[in-house]
Amino acid sequence: MILTLAITGASGAILAREALRALEADERVARVHFVASENSLRVLAEELGISGRNNLLEKLIGSAPTKIVQHFDADIGAAIASGSHPSDGMIILPCSMGTLATIAMGLADSLIARAADVTLKERRPLILCVRETPFNRIHLRNMTLAAEAGATIFPCIPAFYAQPKDSSEMAREFSFRVLAHIGLPQKDAYVGKREKGRDQGTKGPRD
Ligand SMILES: Cc1cc2nc3c(=O)[nH]c(=O)nc-3n(C[C@H](O)[C@H](O)[C@H](O)COP(=O)(O)O)c2cc1C
Repeated sequence: MILTLAITGASGAILAREALRALEADERVARVHFVASENSLRVLAEELGISGRNNLLEKLIGSAPTKIVQHFDADIGAAIASGSHPSDGMIILPCSMGTLATIAMGLADSLIARAADVTLKERRPLILCVRETPFNRIHLRNMTLAAEAGATIFPCIPAFYAQPKDSSEMAREFSFRVLAHIGLPQKDAYVGKREKGRDQGTKGPRD
């Protein structure tokens, strides 16, 4: 698969980190195009203590990437800005209300917004992992507009029934659900629950 993963300035940088690590390790994935919005850098610094764009991927996945390439959000001429570039879909994780609005309005004024716009026009999967609470009516309308144009609204809402032992495991399980949705089910999904289920005789997760 060839995928695009973008990070925007919403809370939840840890979710993107877990998704990137899984994509880097996944043999079914040939290439990941990665874009971080300018505002995501502020959140990365506040939530993960990662500062600046230099070696951002290394800092996120813990080693030099072998299949993930980074593009600047200002580079609207990058390959993923064109519909003729092969792609199996795009994930925005996390997706801010600002980026959601830009996509819903079709502004295409940054690489992330343009790549999302192209993904929709080419009828490819676009997963918007929106993160805000509570939603105002503008957020709700923009989610509806994006969904009507073909996007999947996949809110950053973790599951609790799998009883994750910490925030990293919770983030990993959420990111695995996103990857499964785009066609990459992860074999290590819900490991904690399976182990606990063996101990306690309980069933596995429901969805
Ligand atoms: C620490 C931090 C957390 C934020 N969390 C959110 C959030 O969860 N959802 C959201 O829509 N915006 C959030 N914002 C505000 C966005 O970063 C801001 O609206 C920004 O313009 C989004 O730009 P982008 O979509 O180009 O990345 C947060 C900002 C900061 C500094």
